[in-house]
Amino acid sequence: MQSAISELLAQMTLEEKAGLCSGADFWHTKAVGRLGVPAMMVSDGPHGLRTQKEGGGVNESITAVCFPAGCAAAASFDPELLRREGAAIGAEARAVGVGVVLGPAVNIKRSPLCGRNFEYYSEDPCLAGALAAAYIQGVQDQGVGTSIKHFAANSQEYRRLTCSSNMTERTLREIYLPAFETAVKEAAPWTVMCSYNRINGTYASENKTLLTDILRKEWGFTGFVMSDWGAVADRVRGLCAGLDLEMPGCGGVNDQKIVAAVRAGTLDESVVDKAAGRILNIVLRHADLAGAAVGAELDLAGDHAKAASMAAECAVLLQNRGSLPLKQDQRVVYIGGFADAPRYQGGGSSHVNSFRVESALAAARARGRAVEYVEGFPADRDQREESEFLKAVEAAENADAAVIFAGLPESFESEGYDRRHMRLPDAQNNLIARVAAVQKNTVVVLHTGSPVECPWAEDVSAVLCMYLGGEGVGRATDALLYGEAEPCGRLPETWPLRLEDTPCYLDYPGDGRTAYYREGVFVGYRWYDARKMPVRWPFGHGLSYTGFVYKSASLSSTDLAEDGSVQVSVTVRNSGARFGREVVQLYIAPPENAVPRPPKELRHFAKVSLQPGEETTVTFTVTRRDLCYYDEELGDWYAEPGEYKVLLGHSSRNIPTVLPLHYTTAHRRPLTVDENTPIGDLLRDDRTASIVRTMLTRFGGLMGANGGDAITEEAGLQMMDGMPLRSMVAFGGPEAAAALPGLLAALRGAVRPREERT
Ligand code: BGC
Repeated sequence: MQSAISELLAQMTLEEKAGLCSGADFWHTKAVGRLGVPAMMVSDGPHGLRTQKEGGGVNESITAVCFPAGCAAAASFDPELLRREGAAIGAEARAVGVGVVLGPAVNIKRSPLCGRNFEYYSEDPCLAGALAAAYIQGVQDQGVGTSIKHFAANSQEYRRLTCSSNMTERTLREIYLPAFETAVKEAAPWTVMCSYNRINGTYASENKTLLTDILRKEWGFTGFVMSDWGAVADRVRGLCAGLDLEMPGCGGVNDQKIVAAVRAGTLDESVVDKAAGRILNIVLRHADLAGAAVGAELDLAGDHAKAASMAAECAVLLQNRGSLPLKQDQRVVYIGGFADAPRYQGGGSSHVNSFRVESALAAARARGRAVEYVEGFPADRDQREESEFLKAVEAAENADAAVIFAGLPESFESEGYDRRHMRLPDAQNNLIARVAAVQKNTVVVLHTGSPVECPWAEDVSAVLCMYLGGEGVGRATDALLYGEAEPCGRLPETWPLRLEDTPCYLDYPGDGRTAYYREGVFVGYRWYDARKMPVRWPFGHGLSYTGFVYKSASLSSTDLAEDGSVQVSVTVRNSGARFGREVVQLYIAPPENAVPRPPKELRHFAKVSLQPGEETTVTFTVTRRDLCYYDEELGDWYAEPGEYKVLLGHSSRNIPTVLPLHYTTAHRRPLTVDENTPIGDLLRDDRTASIVRTMLTRFGGLMGANGGDAITEEAGLQMMDGMPLRSMVAFGGPEAAAALPGLLAALRGAVRPREERT
């Protein structure tokens, strides 16, 4: 392929090569007819196809199946589900001639207010990365490419085209990049879509560090980078940074700038060749595979059934005080417009022209359930109509159970703008509270793309979160409510008690020019855990109609060496009377550390299916990288030696099993030794501790380390912790001054990297 591409490039004019670097229109790359290079079509993405109708406007798309949106799919905690979703979408894409599906979208959920959270997976990069990799493999196994987006740090909609996400390198590396890193390394997406925003002042579309140094050189990405639609600011700068394809077409304006720069000698033609070559590589790959796909047919009815069964696996049972599952002979009232018209997808570029939407009400009626329906409140706005309100309360009082279908109206969350608050419409909150007061079996079903405040949580019996479950969500809800399907989703994000508790409450969404990510790596549960804050429902939480117990948890070794690995095993038993699925979550807790770290971080998870009484053993492999944080001084991932903990839990706050793990490494963080180095830093470092202790034995008394009349020994040691080495001279006089050069030399010798020592 490479030589064919080189030959093509050699035959192309500069204008043709520059032209290839921008779209022909909204959804196609340019063809080069005289050389037989076809155009390639791309389509959103991510949870269904939004392929433009032949001859239609940019907003008219073909009919396709709407699968669970990112928020819901992530709640499955199940890479296999994402693989299935990807495969189904990939097959539809292949049948309609799409070369690249624009997804998955893996931006981190920094605040529940981001209008586009419904499309994203998680607040946790480990979960988002594993799911993204599986989705990509699913699509690409069908011979269709993907475009993982939006690279990177695009966690708000407000001023998304210009705002700068400002953060430390550590925050970027630990929170905002790893989902991309995992997906690129494990699943090799054909393309990456850069985001609109700037990162620390530089547009993503012009960011060489991201698009070339990290993405290609560090992670080994070999596809092409395309811009988000309209994300290009300076085209030539972008090209040099590693942005290959500008989307959509720019009417040739930027192509001419590329040509002019080459002619003026300010841009090397080889840069254009490189970008055009990368695009050709994918376009030709698609052309090859498309030949093999001739005759592939759409199976929308089949895909609809798949979407409905996936929706059931994505639902999270947040609370159940016994009302669920409902019984067939119970007299149940369904309240809320979402019962009849579920909200099942978000607004904006991912909006699918859905094949068939099923409501929970229609599903219940089709199954002959004893269900009465009162609208109570509309699904599309915050409106209280007195007669409907009272009718709903009365019906609830007279029924055996009331199910309120609540959620965010479409206008409350969408691509393009952020939410203003975290509340449900007042009309809904008020009605839920009133119904709960008269009906003890009150169940709330939620259709939302993001967490909402649930002030009535303590007053209702059960809460079932369907997120935005795709077009089959109604059938799935019905099956879950009546116990014909088992709830097995887990929260991919913390549900805080109130907006004011959220990590970036004071900084979100910034001043319009800059968003300061001051919470750093403390995003989501990392924040709530560090601050020991109560939350409504924690990350990883989700109930089932059965129960699970863990036993015989063990490590293959309690010691982990730098290049080694340790197997962590735990046996999970279904202790209840029904089939169910459990998600075993493995978190790592670091040792007490000079570097502030989250109390624990998710590193692995596995979903298992178990019949009543059945048990199975889950095994994870823990390696050094699982223990690491990103050390800016080192410019690399680092795990310090010491005592770590392996936590195995049902959720981030329900951890029945803790196993100690001792990590050894000869590697140490760089330690600069000079007169200003604090003595405490040297005492904590095993390379220098004994040298400093000897020094303290000699001069410590003079420096106050041994306590005295005025200070206790404990206080003396504490003071010593922050004293620089030069304090020896200040307090120790000429004798200490004479000893200092020798001490510095000894300390420097001890911290010099091994390879530098002779
Ligand atoms: C969105 C992308 C999408 C593109 C094409 C942009 O506005 O941010 O996610 O793929 O439009 O529709």
